[in-house]
This record gives sequence, structure tokens and C-alpha cells, in this order.
Amino acid sequence: LVTAVIVVAAGSGQRLGYGMPKAAVPLGGEPILMHALRGIVASGVASQVCVALPPGDEGLRRLCDDFREELADGGPLLTVVDGGSTRAESVRAGIAALMEGIEAVLVHDAARALTPESVFHRVCDSLVAGAAAVIPVVPVVDTVKMVAATTGGDAAVAPELVTGTARREELRAVQTPQGFTLGTLLRAHEAAQALDQQQAAAVTDDAMLVEMLGTAVHAVRGSTQSLKITTPLDLIFAEGLLEGPLG
Ligand code: C5P
Repeated sequence: LVTAVIVVAAGSGQRLGYGMPKAAVPLGGEPILMHALRGIVASGVASQVCVALPPGDEGLRRLCDDFREELADGGPLLTVVDGGSTRAESVRAGIAALMEGIEAVLVHDAARALTPESVFHRVCDSLVAGAAAVIPVVPVVDTVKMVAATTGGDAAVAPELVTGTARREELRAVQTPQGFTLGTLLRAHEAAQALDQQQAAAVTDDAMLVEMLGTAVHAVRGSTQSLKITTPLDLIFAEGLLEGPLG
């Protein structure tokens, strides 16, 4: 399948606290985005890589321009677009810039910069085998509970009350790259535009939109190395991974 990877890198990175977009934060001496791009290209799955950047960020745009020069002949086409105010809008900006002939799209968080090549391959293999949508997942180590804000007298006891416990063996933590046939991703994001603001704010990945269509979403094995660099602690962990991968 002729495949494009849309890299969403337009987040502000406020939780990392560097005062710059997360994609620009240095990891092992290079911006996080650079690691993500190298990983994608090394996997060999992409005919096109489309990066959604924070609008107006000249530094990251230059980084992409320089990386384009580095790409060997026969490497993927590297395209840059301005991201939107939500992750989904950034994905839509990427979709709008896809080249003719793309059949499958992987949507990948720049923040998952150390994703192993094997994960890209498992996602693509599943698409080739006939999946319309596929996501990489890992088991959940914590027990996960639902909570609600406490009201009345209970509020003096604690701020939240447990309303239920999910069965851990049925839970998975979801990563990227998430893979879709082009038609499936287009339909999912078309449907997303009909959501009200509150519903749209609750959309945290693309697979969720596909689930809303009633289309089957398949899950393949992800990797603990695909962590989403979000907090300063994640950055320390990622630096450690660069020293020596877990295998
Ligand atoms: O904020 P969150 O952790 O969900 O972001 C996941 C990914 O989506 C990050 O790589 C971030 O750069 C990207 N993003 C984006 N455009 C936004 C918000 C987030 O591309 N408006």
C-alpha cells in the first residue's frame, strides 16, 4: 500500500515546561521532532511524510527543510503544514496535503519520538492484511478506576468518589502510529466535523472517530519504548532509552 505518515507536532508542550513547542525540545542534543522523523524514515514504510507544525514556528520549519536535504533520492516526500488548534485539526491539515495516490495513512505523534521500527511494520502489515483501522497497544499496569467529583458532605472527606473499576485484563494503553486506509480516515474526520465543541474536546485519538463510524479497529502489539514524551520525567526516561534501548 502506498502509505503516508502524518506527524502531528503542533502541540504547545506546556506540560514539559520548556517554554517552546514540545517538538523542538532537545532530546540527546537534537529536537524531539528530529528523532521522530528519523524513526519514520528508517522504518521505510512511508512514501510521504507530512508534518503538522505549530503555525509560525520558523525553527521547526527550517529543521524539516534541512532534513529534506538529508533524505536520499528515493526517500519519502517531506511536506510541512500549519497545525490547528486541536490535535484533530492538525491531522486534518495533514490530510489536506496528502499527495495523489496515497492508499493508507499512519497518524503519528511527534512526541512518540522513539517508536521502534517494528511497531510501524506491525501496523502496516495489519493494513496490508485487510484492516481498515489498526492501533498499537500495550497492557495497562495500573488498576484503572472511574471517578466523579464528590458533592455534599462527601466533599469534606475527599475531592473525588470512585464510581467503578475497569477489568484490567481488558484494558490497553493506546499508542501511535495509528494506521488507516485513506477512505476510513477521511470518513472519520468528516464525521468529526459534525461533533459539538464538548464532544470534539473529548476526542484524543483518530481511532476513536473510526469507532464512532462503527468500523472495526484492530489492535497490534505496541512498545514501551513508544512512550509519549509529555512530562519532564518522560524526558529523563527517553534520554535513558537513547543510551541503551530496552530491546
Ligand atoms: O496534547 P497531546 O499530548 O494529546 O498531543 C499529542 C500529539 O498531538 C503531540 O505530538 C502534539 O504535538 C500533537 N498536537 C498537534 N496539534 C495540536 C495539539 C497537539 O499536532 N493542536
